[in-house]
Amino acid sequence: MKGKLILVGAGPGDPELITLKGVKAIESADVLLYDALANEVLLNYASNSCIKKFVGKKPSIHQTQQVDINKLIVEYAQKGKTVVRLKGGDPYLFGRGHEEQVYARENGIDTEVIPGVSSFYAVPEVNQLPLTRRGLSESFWVLTGTTKDLELAKDIRRAAESDATIVVLMGMNKLSEICDIFKETEKSQTLITIIQNGTLPSQKIVKGTIESIQNLVKRAKMSNPAIIVIGEVNQVLEKL
Ligand SMILES: C[S@@+](CC[C@H](N)C(=O)[O-])C[C@H]1O[C@@H](n2cnc3c(N)ncnc32)[C@H](O)[C@@H]1O
Repeated sequence: MKGKLILVGAGPGDPELITLKGVKAIESADVLLYDALANEVLLNYASNSCIKKFVGKKPSIHQTQQVDINKLIVEYAQKGKTVVRLKGGDPYLFGRGHEEQVYARENGIDTEVIPGVSSFYAVPEVNQLPLTRRGLSESFWVLTGTTKDLELAKDIRRAAESDATIVVLMGMNKLSEICDIFKETEKSQTLITIIQNGTLPSQKIVKGTIESIQNLVKRAKMSNPAIIVIGEVNQVLEKL
């Protein structure tokens, strides 16, 4: 029997926001390698004989390095196993999914990718915050706040100069730098919403301006994982 790798998007958190195809892949798994942002309720779809391994990042838990995750995928697949790699949101978006897929292919493993509902639009959307709205925003940028060298992404400055809605993932540790950039482009009164643990019962949401948001976040004791939405579309939240 030939093994394979199936990359599956687990959705943004709410376990019902996975695709049917994703559920069927989990049901077929001999091995399930899952991340911190994949809801553990989804493991219930796996068979009793399925090997389930947490390979994500959580404080106080030993972190599996990316090279070790890659090796696990290949080792299991070479033994003829169907390996499902369950990743938060969509597996290709800011999640190293493509790197894992390429590594598997380079080692002669067949691969399949099942897209997921990404947090970048689903977390604002379940809060009835659209990323585009006629008359308010014609486009959106989706950026990582933090690059692989742990620097602030350079594109944030370029995005701040546009009129687009700006969605920042992995940006909480860079919030003050992000706000400084918007202040430098004379946008200190621009609206900003931050949503932590979106789509989950533990969700927290705050809305303010570039000027006020850091205090609001501090008061609400907010941290990762969170989505930052900056721009005029945030006006519609007030109308709810
Ligand atoms: C490594 S990225 C993975 C993104 C994922 N592939 C996706 O499509 O949603 C992790 C970041 O996604 C965002 N994120 C994921 N799930 C979230 C949620 N339920 N609530 C808020 N932000 C979330 C946060 O910015 C977090 O730091």
